[in-house]
Amino acid sequence: MKILVIGGSQFVGRAFVTEALARGHEVTTFNRGVSAADLPGVEAVHGDREVTADLERLVAGGRHWDAVVDTCGYVPRVVGEGARVLSGHADAYLYVSSLAALRGWGADPSVDDDSPAHDCPPDAGPDDGDYGVLKAGCERAVTRHFEGRTLLFRAGVITGPYDNVGQLDAWLWRLRAAEGGRRRVLAPGNPDLAMRVIDARDIAAFGLHCLDARRTGPYIVAAPEDHTTYGAWLAACAEATGTDPELEWVDDDFLLGHGVTPWTDLPMWIPDAPEHTCMWATPATRAEAAGLVCRPPAETVRDTWAVLRERPAPELPLANTHGHLSGLAAGRERELLAAWDARRGPDTAARRT
Ligand SMILES: NC(=O)c1ccc[n+]([C@@H]2O[C@H](COP(=O)([O-])OP(=O)(O)OC[C@H]3O[C@@H](n4cnc5c(N)ncnc54)[C@H](OP(=O)(O)O)[C@@H]3O)[C@@H](O)[C@H]2O)c1
Repeated sequence: MKILVIGGSQFVGRAFVTEALARGHEVTTFNRGVSAADLPGVEAVHGDREVTADLERLVAGGRHWDAVVDTCGYVPRVVGEGARVLSGHADAYLYVSSLAALRGWGADPSVDDDSPAHDCPPDAGPDDGDYGVLKAGCERAVTRHFEGRTLLFRAGVITGPYDNVGQLDAWLWRLRAAEGGRRRVLAPGNPDLAMRVIDARDIAAFGLHCLDARRTGPYIVAAPEDHTTYGAWLAACAEATGTDPELEWVDDDFLLGHGVTPWTDLPMWIPDAPEHTCMWATPATRAEAAGLVCRPPAETVRDTWAVLRERPAPELPLANTHGHLSGLAAGRERELLAAWDARRGPDTAARRT
């Protein structure tokens, strides 16, 4: 296939490019050439998806692709204009959306492949809704110009090598720092809580499989329910980094009471309560039936560390390219552990007696 990847130099787009090249496809990438280098083996076209003239230059000369893979669409009006320009130049359009596009996701454990998306017009601007609402508008914007030729991937939490969000990276760096003198690590909440975090490379493999098979329509893409738990995930991080930390599982109420922010201060932590944990509950039933396969989580963690370990160790929190912070500063973590010890003292003594 000839594939056009919008983005393609970072994380999810990079995973699509790598997988497509490995399968022998011809890949064109379209990005601004700003945030990361293009991968060897692609035809790299530089331009801004927000500029119609750049899109017209991309398709000039009657270019044609079997499929577009759009990994960096956030604003319906922008995505729609791109889809309009590309509509006569590609057979299919895979848009990487999000579970957040689904109404009720995060609050309703019954959300599934048939749940409706948020109401958002296909020409909405950047201020017309939050991330999830706008993703739903982007889905409509693509569908308007690629009616019957659209694949929508409603992704849950994604990680893996070159993750540009930084949540797994923050855990890996934190556990690596547990080497030597700092062996105790504050771990969040319930170690048995299931996480459906998915590797970007598995999304890419499934996407190319679907394009090959000319599949269309919406698919939730997330790992199966028994994929991993917080405990197994942090154990995999420790193993990958060659460390043996003492994980101090601190309960949710203590963390919330001490102002620790779920999801960012302790990456991927959400309090173990029904209104939160249904974020991990959404099943990828249709995708699994269509051939989605998720690699073992330990492989995701190991391969991510293999990329990171070549870089100088950063201070936490990590700031990513979207401005999100991940991880607790070392001093703040020490304060929290000291407060936890102080609170736990009498109980520990009681247990000892
Ligand atoms: N991470 C998660 O847990 C998660 C969960 C659900 C869904 N998702 C979805 O997965 C996708 C994330 O993919 P990602 O991390 O690979 O993408 P990303 O960070 O959104 O995009 C980065 C890529 O897009 C290019 N780009 C940025 N602005 C551009 C512009 N104006 N014109 C042309 N190219 C532009 C960048 O290159 P240049 O800077 O050089 O232009 C780079 O190649 C998003 O659609 C997100 O909504 C993520």
